[in-house]
Amino acid sequence: MNQNETIKQAIKLLQAGEVIAIPTETVYGLAADASNESAVKKIFELKRRPADHPVIVHIADASKLSAWAIDLPEVATRLAREFWPGPLTLILKKNPEVPLLVTGGQNTIGLRSPSHPITHELLKQFGGGLAAPSANRFGKLSPTKAQHVIDTFQNEIPLIIDGGHCEVGIESTILDLSGERPRLLRPGMISIEQIETIIRQPILCPDRTAPRVSGSLPAHYAPQTKATLVNSSQLINFISNNQSKIKLAVLSFQPLPKFNIPCAVIPKNPKQYAQQLYLKLHELDQCGVDLIVIENIPDTPEWKAIQDRLQRAAH
Ligand code: TXA
Ligand code: MG
Repeated sequence: MNQNETIKQAIKLLQAGEVIAIPTETVYGLAADASNESAVKKIFELKRRPADHPVIVHIADASKLSAWAIDLPEVATRLAREFWPGPLTLILKKNPEVPLLVTGGQNTIGLRSPSHPITHELLKQFGGGLAAPSANRFGKLSPTKAQHVIDTFQNEIPLIIDGGHCEVGIESTILDLSGERPRLLRPGMISIEQIETIIRQPILCPDRTAPRVSGSLPAHYAPQTKATLVNSSQLINFISNNQSKIKLAVLSFQPLPKFNIPCAVIPKNPKQYAQQLYLKLHELDQCGVDLIVIENIPDTPEWKAIQDRLQRAAH
């Protein structure tokens, strides 16, 4: 099937209330027509996701904002103009017509315009909004290639659109604009600093004052296998001391040929690291080891979103 035929088939399925998998620049999503309650309900069932967890609604562009949100603050349109289509989700006051199921019972809605060309075109032709959480079961690693989605949902959904490897590789930045002041809900590859430059006011951010303690974070975005973070200077020692006791795999910046354990190498560059993180974790997760050892990353702003995902993976 060529791309146009795929998009036509996708639209037919969405209009019939089906759930399909779509590529985005961040991670793959499990999508349904956001205005169709029974279709959205299917997403929750497929993901085994609790009903009070809201899903993000994907739209073609900023011109659709007012169909889904009300009382739009001026900064919302400014941010959309700057970063859409792209990996930024805005939380806004919801239009009363939006089903409460989509927003997990809240009076706010998460909106984002994804930049992946296939999904962008799909949204333009579809016209409406697509409710789409990441296409993984609740709490598990997000999918960054079609095969990840196939592995989980092959026999449960009628269409998985293959859009190649996700370019960004981790979930969108989530910014809450529904309150008095902008607040960061989830760090992503669009950074706080980039957003503040555009809105010219500081963002409330939970861990700016108090650093996050990894143990206090909920387990989410986690591989099946247990994972732990180890500083570069202790990596060799850690592996030497533990490899005879338990089966290890490692995610590191350099190959470790002296050890006979599964090793995935990942570039020490935040953009490339984010792009490959879930891919490598999916691989290591399939090695049948007891523990994935992850070499710790630099503690600087450009690594913030990755730090967030690693701390959750190692919870
Ligand atoms: O990059 C992404 O954002 C991907 C792709 C598919 O677009 N989607 C994604 O969706 O990560 P999901 O459902 O896995 O995560 C959505 C997050 C959840 O943590 C949810 O609580 C939050 O967005 N969220 C959605 N609507 C919200 C709302 N109205 N208020 C607060 N948080 C909201
Ligand atoms: Mg998710």
